[in-house]
Amino acid sequence: MQTVTTVAALRQQITAWKLNSEKIIFVPTMGNLHAGHLALINHAKTISGKVICSIFVNALQFDRDEDLQAYPRTPQQDLAALQNAKVDLVFMPVHQEIYPKHNQIRIDVPYNPLSRQLCGKFRPGFFDGIVNVVTRLFHLVTPDVAIFGEKDYQQLIIIRQLVQDLGLQIKIEQVPTQRDADGLAFSSRNSYLTQAERMLASQLYAMLDDLKNQIEDGNRDFEALEKYGMEQLTKAEFRPDYVAIRNAENLELPRYDTDYIVILAAAWLGKARLIDNILIQFV
Ligand code: PAF
Repeated sequence: MQTVTTVAALRQQITAWKLNSEKIIFVPTMGNLHAGHLALINHAKTISGKVICSIFVNALQFDRDEDLQAYPRTPQQDLAALQNAKVDLVFMPVHQEIYPKHNQIRIDVPYNPLSRQLCGKFRPGFFDGIVNVVTRLFHLVTPDVAIFGEKDYQQLIIIRQLVQDLGLQIKIEQVPTQRDADGLAFSSRNSYLTQAERMLASQLYAMLDDLKNQIEDGNRDFEALEKYGMEQLTKAEFRPDYVAIRNAENLELPRYDTDYIVILAAAWLGKARLIDNILIQFV
């Protein structure tokens, strides 16, 4: 496994691989890798080509509530895990490498139903930060395929839109959320939970699963279900930002007959803001 920190070194290797007709499979991350990331890498390894993983804590996607400095960084463990997973190249740039010239040119995500609801409503600028870094990384890595987790569902849908709107020739593939034995989705932010909070944290998934069962049983009063979900979280000592039931294709409000639904939630437990979702596909 090669580890490179500069755009020049990254480009040199990618050019050589492309001359050899290798496909480039890309897994962008912010490091502090867990089972969720490893599932993305394992998926990447099932596609024939060279697997590149980036580790870059993107300052642009942090807001006031979350301290960029406090974000967990574990580069040595990450490199060992990536080596073990047989990744071909790790790109670990510093801030200036991705944002030279003080980031004078930026893409913005306009006010629209995709970006200004759910996490976009509670974390202004968050998705602008994400599309900027992902666009830059896509231009540097020039992948044929890029892999994202379903856990960050709104991010996934916005990136699909980004690829479509900018006419990028990149296939986006999604990988199901990986969960601990009690249902809690793996996330770097789980490390902010105290032991007592960790015991409560699985209630987030339990609530989503409860709503899923009710919808599968025919309940279509989505507003009442969202309210019920919020109440369940509050009872379980969370401070919920939202519980939302949406069309899983485009995050619009679902209709009675929408056959692909996502239930999403974001809630605080102590210092950790946890997000999760569950998909329902009616056949
Ligand atoms: O999902 C993440 O880890 C980040 O949002 C991403 C896509 C690597 C961009 O910084």
